[in-house]
Amino acid sequence: MKTTIAEVHKHVGKEVTIGAWLANKRSSGKIAFLQLRDGTGFMQGVAVKAEIGEEKFQEAKSLTQESSLYVTGTIVEDTRSPLGFEMQVSDFELIHEAVDYPITPKNHGTEFLMDHRHLWLRSKKQHAVMKVRNEIIRATYEFFNEQGYVKIDPPILTGASAEGTTELFHTKYFDEDAYLSQSGQLYMEAAAMALGKVFSFGPTFRAEKSKTRRHLIEFWMIEPEMAFMDHEDSLQVQEQYVSHVVQSVLKNCTIELQVLERDTAQLEKIQAPFPRITYDEAIQLVKEKGFDDVEWGDDFGAPHETAIAESFDKPVFITHWPAEIKAFYMKPDPKRPDVVLCADLIAPEGYGEIIGGSQRIDDIELMEQRYKEHGLTGPAYEWYLQLRQYGSVPHSGFGLGLERTVAWIAGVEHVRETIPFPRLLNRLYP
Ligand code: 4AD
Ligand code: MG
Repeated sequence: MKTTIAEVHKHVGKEVTIGAWLANKRSSGKIAFLQLRDGTGFMQGVAVKAEIGEEKFQEAKSLTQESSLYVTGTIVEDTRSPLGFEMQVSDFELIHEAVDYPITPKNHGTEFLMDHRHLWLRSKKQHAVMKVRNEIIRATYEFFNEQGYVKIDPPILTGASAEGTTELFHTKYFDEDAYLSQSGQLYMEAAAMALGKVFSFGPTFRAEKSKTRRHLIEFWMIEPEMAFMDHEDSLQVQEQYVSHVVQSVLKNCTIELQVLERDTAQLEKIQAPFPRITYDEAIQLVKEKGFDDVEWGDDFGAPHETAIAESFDKPVFITHWPAEIKAFYMKPDPKRPDVVLCADLIAPEGYGEIIGGSQRIDDIELMEQRYKEHGLTGPAYEWYLQLRQYGSVPHSGFGLGLERTVAWIAGVEHVRETIPFPRLLNRLYP
């Protein structure tokens, strides 16, 4: 009977066949340990000479890394492996022999691995990261669907900027100029006025010349937008959503977190509510942490975010930022118009900002004033203004960066390992 490694627990004591690749192998004179992987997981196959015969045993010993096989054998419990099972091999059939697979079990440099990303994805750690990513995606859809949100797909080709013009990817749209979307937010606001609570989940593009462990040129963002919700309502959605995602990974990715050697005690603490500090308090905090040169009105860099995160064991919201360093659409605090009703959510353990969100300006006159201040003109902004002209309501939304969230939850140092084929400064291949 054909099965997969993920399903072997249903076949203990029975003989099954699995289509697999040989990830690694060890052997002695009498026994060969075959590390098998089939996409669903990793499992050890034990081939004993006395059982499979001299000829088959020699064939097993000469199998090369990443050769593909149909392996047949009996599933037995094995408490030493994360999977909990192994296979006593009775027979195997070579499908294809792989010669000189470039990624050997020794250590390779990152550039070499990145050049071979199409093969590197097969390795145990990368497999685990992709499974965690998939669970975060699954839990995201689950959360927003259960809360009555409608999934909306904003366009990728756009006529204007949503977040500022410095990082736009330009392209030609026949005779017009177009840009790859850096955020679907403006469209999501229109959708929220039509459907109430909406979320998007799609690729976004930033032509940022940043070469850090947190920056990708192409990344995936989840952007919920909610009509009739203010800033505080939005923070509650954010903390519940992030808690749901973390708890889902803990529940459904136990093997993967073990492979990744993730300290799960850190993740267990991630339960709503999350602490909130104002930007003013954050400035104080970083000054106390030794960054004396930081002044009110400065944006925070990675070292500042890490210093702030150190004081908390959950993600922390930094709220009420100076209007002058935030986007044109954020609503000023009525009690203090020099700051806006917004928050960045900073992940623990040095992973930095994973969410940016805000309450949006709903007053048409103030929005027109912001257009003037920011020099925003043209048809691309006219329709956005109309959302304030016809039944304007308080509304809020946010954007969560998928790859930074995967990096944090999986405990991976660099975002390049959290997306199947990363687009980085100076890297468009494979
Ligand atoms: O803070 P950002 O720029 O916010 C927006 O785009 C808003 N329009 C979202 C909204 O309110 N609908 O980006 C949101 C998140 C960041 O917190 C970060 O997690 C991620 O997107 N992000 C990046 N991730 C990887 N590489 C980059 N270059 C990123 N830039 C932003
Ligand atoms: Mg931001």
